[in-house]
Amino acid sequence: MSILVTGGAGFIGSHTCVELLNSGYDVVVVDNLCNSKEESLKRVEKITGKSVSFYKVDLLDKVSLDNVFSSEEIESVIHFAGLKAVGESVEKPLEYYHNNITGTLVLCDIMRKHNVKNIVFSSSATVYGDPATVPIKEGFPLSVTNPYGSTKLMLENILQDIYKSDNEWNIIILRYFNPIGAHESGLIGEDPKGIPNNLAPYITKVAVGQLDVLGVFGDDYDTHDGSGVRDYIHVVDLSIGHLKAIEKIKDKPGVAIYNLGTGKGYSVLDLVKAFSKACGKEIPYIIKPRRAGDIAKCYADASLANKELAWTAKRDLDKMCEDAWEWQKNNPDGY
Ligand SMILES: NC(=O)c1ccc[n+]([C@@H]2O[C@H](COP(=O)([O-])OP(=O)(O)OC[C@H]3O[C@@H](n4cnc5c(N)ncnc54)[C@H](O)[C@@H]3O)[C@@H](O)[C@H]2O)c1
Repeated sequence: MSILVTGGAGFIGSHTCVELLNSGYDVVVVDNLCNSKEESLKRVEKITGKSVSFYKVDLLDKVSLDNVFSSEEIESVIHFAGLKAVGESVEKPLEYYHNNITGTLVLCDIMRKHNVKNIVFSSSATVYGDPATVPIKEGFPLSVTNPYGSTKLMLENILQDIYKSDNEWNIIILRYFNPIGAHESGLIGEDPKGIPNNLAPYITKVAVGQLDVLGVFGDDYDTHDGSGVRDYIHVVDLSIGHLKAIEKIKDKPGVAIYNLGTGKGYSVLDLVKAFSKACGKEIPYIIKPRRAGDIAKCYADASLANKELAWTAKRDLDKMCEDAWEWQKNNPDGY
């Protein structure tokens, strides 16, 4: 029996494939490579010495997806595949809703047809909107401010409705905080197309000399140094969270929702400092006005995952930066 990883060639997916293979699972990947390259999976195989069964298939292509389920013996699905750039989602809402929502509906429909009813879903801390207090618990009110966030919240609701209609489903929704870092081999990491949207890959591109200067959006938030505070989590810790979720799903939990974060908040300027230390050079930055939609502080209360999944994030900010630098330095142009 195998675990199907949708979006497995991507940043978090490829790291999760490593953890699954190292723990003895057989892995099947479905990815249309719209934001990734097959090379990432070759590197996964190099790291683990095991093979991945890869299908270049779009989730919207129902016939091809059906064939994957007919060809493989799948017991559970980890569903990463989706478009994830907040800014782009505002420009292209139809593409985002179609890809993320319809893609998941097709996936669940095919899963039901093949009687595969275990799914771990990638959600995001973005579903908490601007929280009234931190740290954020799973029961906090939910709200979203952009189409990307809407797709995550809608899919959380859709999955819960599927469970209500059929209690044979087991659904674990994981709300990620800010994944950064890379596998310590330096062989796999984040490989954004074009100019990165997220802070950490932007910093690494500045460090490697491909971008001149980092823009820090706002230095007047109510935080210890005025820049925004986030919960950065090492992508390997996040991936291990998925492994724990796959183990948990065997206990038939019904629907469960967990925050995956470290529970610690670091500011943009803390991250810049830690990264400078890791790469041994100053990261030039300029302060820019606040960006619409950004919030002051966002970090997790991860005690539920701690308790119920026996999971805790172990790698600190320095390790996240060291590993991200190792990846970037060895692969300045990505895969
Ligand atoms: N990286 C983050 O900061 C973050 C934070 C919270 C949640 N998430 C969510 O986690 C998941 C994985 O994120 P990531 O950072 O690894 O992104 P990524 O872009 O690196 O990986 C997503 C993968 O899905 C594939 N994909 C997209 N649409 C597809 C489709 N219709 N059919 C088949 N494959 C498709 C892409 O080619 C890519 O390989 C996404 O759902 C994302 O929204 C990411």
